[in-house]
Amino acid sequence: MPTNRTFTMIKPDAIVDGFTGPIIEQIEAAGFRIVAMKKVHLSMEEAGKFYEVHQERPFYGELCEHMSSNPIIPMVLEKENAIEEFRILIGATDPAKAAEGTIRKQFARSIGSNAIHGSDSDANAAIEGAFFFTPTELK
Ligand code: CMP
Repeated sequence: MPTNRTFTMIKPDAIVDGFTGPIIEQIEAAGFRIVAMKKVHLSMEEAGKFYEVHQERPFYGELCEHMSSNPIIPMVLEKENAIEEFRILIGATDPAKAAEGTIRKQFARSIGSNAIHGSDSDANAAIEGAFFFTPTELK
């Protein structure tokens, strides 16, 4: 995956709370092009695999339960300097610490149900995108 791409998921809390439309609108208004997008309901096992880097963390069980509780919307996005720009757009992991106007500040419930995911590096964006999409879907 080129370095101008990032991977995101709108999380179950934001979808259940009816924020899918406003979140996608803000992503596009910020200049990101949606390369690939779908709606999927992960099993507990699939959520565990996606987040396996966090398996030793105390919140791992809670995280996997939340991510498999209802559907999510994974997307691959394109923009120059995508990783950094997207992390600015979504704000801090904990919505209580997120800057005004960021997606998490506006739409997240808590640190565990924080509305949206954003990859933290080019390498992880490629791995995470490939978890959900085939190479053809990412062309
Ligand atoms: P995300 O960016 O998707 O990557 C890992 C997720 O773990 C993170 O968003 C949070 O939703 C969750 N997380 C991180 N820290 C905590 C915490 N202290 N308690 C509960 N969940 C957390």
